[in-house]
Amino acid sequence: MPLAYLNGQYVDRATAAVSVDDRGFLFGDGVYEVTRARGGRLFEGERHAARLRRSMADLGLALPQGVTVESLNDVAVKLLAENGLAGEALVYFQVTRGVAPRTHQFPAAGTPATVYVSVGAFTPPDSYRTRGVTCVTYPDIRWLRCDLKVVNLLPNVLAKQEAVTKGAYEAIFVRDGVVTEGASTNVFAVVDGEVRTHPKSNLILPGITRDVLVELARAEGIAVREEPMRLEDLQRAPELFLTSTMNDVMPIVSLDGRPVGDGRPGRVTNRLAEIFAAHLESVCSMRAVPA
Ligand code: PDD
Repeated sequence: MPLAYLNGQYVDRATAAVSVDDRGFLFGDGVYEVTRARGGRLFEGERHAARLRRSMADLGLALPQGVTVESLNDVAVKLLAENGLAGEALVYFQVTRGVAPRTHQFPAAGTPATVYVSVGAFTPPDSYRTRGVTCVTYPDIRWLRCDLKVVNLLPNVLAKQEAVTKGAYEAIFVRDGVVTEGASTNVFAVVDGEVRTHPKSNLILPGITRDVLVELARAEGIAVREEPMRLEDLQRAPELFLTSTMNDVMPIVSLDGRPVGDGRPGRVTNRLAEIFAAHLESVCSMRAVPA
């Protein structure tokens, strides 16, 4: 039976339940993180923890007494071990504003947050990476705090469904002609050997994969420009790719039905994918056994 963590208890995931009065259920009033794990270790656990802390702080959301974000990383490592996940895995963390009578404003002080952590085996989409993926554009109908990782994901759900309906892998949001990010990914272009992506702002999620990749690229002497790109820039770019926890670096070979470059994963993109894979392996080896 897969073991999960809910409100301080280790529980059978199949029967774990939250109240119908949970504010996550009623209002989408909560935040989450998805972290990669390998060999029983979290990949960039500290950065994910920092992002979770920030999402919570900006929404006035506090963990229950005695629970810290670091302690949730320890919970995740324990869940990986208990569930025998020594290979590739994903960890899901969610915190909502707790269970309370339905009023829009925050519940009474002292209402404990609902805290959930689960783990599962993960198969990286390596076969997609070899061929590259297709994307479609979609209007960015989201709010103006896309930098917070909130569970209220309806625009992302609609965008991804549009992609799936059109046989595409990912939807790319466009706001006022500017490409922001994907439904669950960050978006990059390569132009004249330079890597480009949207700057960190309220309009995108500051992806952990994005941040790590930007640092790795610069360390390799590959220039990265964090500047908004218009859809036309993307349409002309010879290489495009996505980044996320579940994709690492994923080449895009078609946008809205038109080939990107020669319709194959680009040279710089492939190099960045290699650099990222090597980094992941070096910090989170498959062969490592959890302590
Ligand atoms: N999504 N942008 C959005 C809107 C996202 O939802 C995500 C991640 C990213 C990439 O962030 P990171 O590199 O930290 O995974 C960018 C997660 C994986 C999800 O919702 O499942």
